[in-house]
Amino acid sequence: MIGDRKVLFSGMQATGNLTLGNYLGALKNWVNIADEYLTFFSVVDLHSITVRQDPAQLRKQARALLTLYIAAGLDPEKNCIYYQSHVSGHAELAWILNCFTYMGELNRMTQFKDKAAKHADNINAGLFTYPVLMAADILLYQADVVPVGKDQLQHLEITRDIAQRFNAIYGDVFTVPVPYVGKAGAKIMSLQDPAKKMSKSDENPNASIYLMDDPDTILRKFKRAVTDSEGQILYREEQPGIKNLIDIYCACAEKTPQETEKEFEGRGYGEFKAAVGEAVVSVLRPLQEEFARLSGEKAYLDGIIKQNGEKAEYYALKTLRKVQRKVGFPERIR
Ligand code: TRP
Repeated sequence: MIGDRKVLFSGMQATGNLTLGNYLGALKNWVNIADEYLTFFSVVDLHSITVRQDPAQLRKQARALLTLYIAAGLDPEKNCIYYQSHVSGHAELAWILNCFTYMGELNRMTQFKDKAAKHADNINAGLFTYPVLMAADILLYQADVVPVGKDQLQHLEITRDIAQRFNAIYGDVFTVPVPYVGKAGAKIMSLQDPAKKMSKSDENPNASIYLMDDPDTILRKFKRAVTDSEGQILYREEQPGIKNLIDIYCACAEKTPQETEKEFEGRGYGEFKAAVGEAVVSVLRPLQEEFARLSGEKAYLDGIIKQNGEKAEYYALKTLRKVQRKVGFPERIR
């Protein structure tokens, strides 16, 4: 809580091309609930360097992501949209929280195990303590609510454990956050393998719709989407490919699976895939246009970055100073 307002914090990494899954599963959700909270939406670039990045590329993608937050409908006058690396409190609090986190806890993190397996040549300490930095992000702003995907729930759990542990020693310093998992169906799967989540790091470009894909590409990818030989457009586990397409259609056309089954009763997969493609195009087109427009407004964006970075820093410092005092660091002489 800050004053009488509940605080919402979330963040995304600026690496790889964002997909329709990121938009429908996360960003669109943020836009829908942002008004109810005092919000912080961070471009978490400190997290990005746990795997090797090309510096120029990282900088470019970070700016693109920040621009996308705004293009998606988050008003930067009302929502604090900023770069994590512009607020040094994240790293400072992460250090302190590292001293309240056990190796055993971090060893259990499934994302660490996955990433360590994927980047066997660079299993660095940052990759290991990644969840502590994430805890710092959230606790720094006294967040009540954190929208995350299911894959991040374990990190939310450890954040709560760290906050409770710290509070048990020093009194009520941190708000203990709860996760906010968007409504069911928002999890978008790969178009080529509906058992896998749609991912920005998928090697097969046909598996994912990228937010910047042009209409022809989008329609073509849906045409090629893996389905089945049932020949019926029904929303059920036995038809994971079709189920995923229905989910996408529902999210884009604001319909329910039942309405969709009815709408396409007796019609073929080809026709349905084309309709899904069109629905996606009509959602992404305005987003892309707004993104292009904003990208040209350099001075405006720079102003937002400065102003919101300072706003984030103001709130971050409040918590950080309190934590520093609690653990016994000397007062600053002013
Ligand atoms: N780890 C998150 C992810 O990869 C990104 C993230 C970093 C985050 N810090 C956060 C999400 C704090 C929510 C809150 O998806």
